[in-house]
Amino acid sequence: MSGLPAARRTVLKGAALAGAAGLGAAACSTDSKLGHAETPTPTAPVQLGSPDEVPVGGAKLYREQRVVVSCPAEGRYKAFSAQCTHAGCLLDKVEGNEGNCPCHGSRFDMTTGKALKGPATVPLPEVPVRVEGGKLVAGPEA
Ligand code: FES
Repeated sequence: MSGLPAARRTVLKGAALAGAAGLGAAACSTDSKLGHAETPTPTAPVQLGSPDEVPVGGAKLYREQRVVVSCPAEGRYKAFSAQCTHAGCLLDKVEGNEGNCPCHGSRFDMTTGKALKGPATVPLPEVPVRVEGGKLVAGPEA
């Protein structure tokens, strides 16, 4: 940009700042206007099926039950709410150990719940998970 006259550089800089401010206002609302802000985690135990469906070293999304379960090591499970902490959309897929939010592109670590890519900054809430009678069960004990 060094070839531009000073007045032109100032105009461009101002436009870039105005654009960034506008985007920030549109993208950073925590109020859900999408109707997704329901209870983020199961409030009662939910059956998820066979623990074998969760790959060792990977994770599985249970969209209907609104949870994700990861398996960091054989027989060990961690579960998180599948509801994005940005504006409440439901994650749509898990790739390796990253969960994806389709609404604004946030990504979450499926082993810790941590937000890896914004706009979300808050981790996914952890959900209790256990194996009962050969089935994975997420949510509070009955
Ligand atoms: S709701 Fe905005 S990134 Fe998930």
